[in-house]
Amino acid sequence: MAEVVIVRDEEEAGELAASAIADLLRARADAVLGLATGSTPLSTYRALARRIDAEGIAVAGVRGFALDEYVGLPAGHPEGYRQVITREVVEPLGLTPELIRVPNGDPATIRTAAEAYEAAIDAAGGVDLQVLGIGRTGHIGFNEPGSSLASRTRVKTLTEQTRIDNARFFDSIEDVPMHCITQGIGTILRARHLVLLAFGEAKAEAIAAAVEGPVSASQPGSAIQLHPHATVIVDEAAASRLEHAGYYRHAWANKPDWQGI
Ligand code: PGA
Repeated sequence: MAEVVIVRDEEEAGELAASAIADLLRARADAVLGLATGSTPLSTYRALARRIDAEGIAVAGVRGFALDEYVGLPAGHPEGYRQVITREVVEPLGLTPELIRVPNGDPATIRTAAEAYEAAIDAAGGVDLQVLGIGRTGHIGFNEPGSSLASRTRVKTLTEQTRIDNARFFDSIEDVPMHCITQGIGTILRARHLVLLAFGEAKAEAIAAAVEGPVSASQPGSAIQLHPHATVIVDEAAASRLEHAGYYRHAWANKPDWQGI
């Protein structure tokens, strides 16, 4: 099963996730990070930026792959994930922009973009640590319910729920693209360590389904149960529907110091 860590708040979650990433970066100067967008990973990126700064961790050789991108936003659109990743990850962490890839959502090249992205991940030797959020629909990346658990990077249609949830970043829901290009669930499962973060009551059901529900394409997050090294870091509200929360707390409280996450 995934290791579930129930923390006080987003800041503590960010510190914990950032410590695992910092350990990786210290061990491998050319580590490959899987990067999520959305609100959830922001405390992790902030904590990681502080650590890189305070501990002088070398990051010039760090490589990265974003999970997904909208299809059809004008180049340079501030809510395009290329821009979001630049603003929230590349710049604050001081990463090398050329080493950080985002799927290409340009309609002119979309027919070959997915295959090119998979090839780039393979050429990099795969992702070492994949940061994940989860949508209220249960999506990871933009793999909406029904996505094959073996899926690779491809173009998907967003659910209306996801468009509504993401409308807060745009002027109106009409401006939220209908399509995206996203790493598949099979792609995500090939990363060597998954760190799934979720905060707030609105995510409680998706987290319970991901951690304790049946493994099902109807709940894309449940694919983490197939992964040998998945860590789920949640606050109390997001953990509120977990049946075995008491055991997760007990296991975490008694975990040997040397194990890390
Ligand atoms: P959020 O999105 O972090 O903005 O809540 C998560 C997701 O949709 O995967």
